[in-house]
Amino acid sequence: MMIKSEQEISIMAEAGKKLKFVLTELRKAVKPGITTLDLNTLAERLIIEQGAKVSFKGYQGYPFTLCTSVNEEVVHTFPSDRILEEGDIISLDLGLIWQGWQSDSAITVGVGKIAEEAERLLRITEESLWKGIAQVKPGNTVGDIGAAVQEHAEKAGYGVVRALTGHGIGTKLHEPPAIPNFGKKHKGMSLQEGMVIAVEPMITMGHYNVDIDPKHWTVKTKDGSLAAHFEHTIAIIKNGHKVLTA
Ligand code: MF3
Ligand code: CO
Repeated sequence: MMIKSEQEISIMAEAGKKLKFVLTELRKAVKPGITTLDLNTLAERLIIEQGAKVSFKGYQGYPFTLCTSVNEEVVHTFPSDRILEEGDIISLDLGLIWQGWQSDSAITVGVGKIAEEAERLLRITEESLWKGIAQVKPGNTVGDIGAAVQEHAEKAGYGVVRALTGHGIGTKLHEPPAIPNFGKKHKGMSLQEGMVIAVEPMITMGHYNVDIDPKHWTVKTKDGSLAAHFEHTIAIIKNGHKVLTA
């Protein structure tokens, strides 16, 4: 069901608050020397400690709680014994389930001190997410969100990944409608009060083409350029929106 009641959105807001807490702890744990599997273990512990359930593990066979995509990896990278090094950037993409309702959010974090150009990629990608979020209100369209994200990223000289999109979210992680990070103003489905969506720009320093490993899930830039990814879960309410994971 695309339209959620006020009561359901308030449960999704609780889910979002828990997810925000876990991602904040994960951000603090990102340091040179830690492995991406350590981060997965921490994420799982913190979700369970809050009485919530992990979401991604088992979803279409995904084997972990967290996605840990480093440098040219865009999204969906399995945690492993990979040791983070000073100067890396890592996308931490996490979901959880609270009282049957899903929440989904991602941040990209620098490991120690990172290059100025990597810093800029993170800043522009997060800004592009917020430009998209600013379009989220009843009567606007899915295309308004995509156009705003795309304009901000491309103006900075970056690529907008086309192969994956944001999505509706509710009792299932992925529900209609798809929320592309590119598009045309006033086009696509109209947003309505009660919809809940995940907006998640994936932005590349070079070309937006990606390779997808069908067995290990990893999505990487084809040209090896750095990529960043930020995501929030957002409810559409009477006169605007509420970011549930902020
Ligand atoms: N935020 C990602 C997405 O919406 C998380 C999915 S990872 C998966 O696609 F393993 F759960 F698929
Ligand atoms: Co998502």
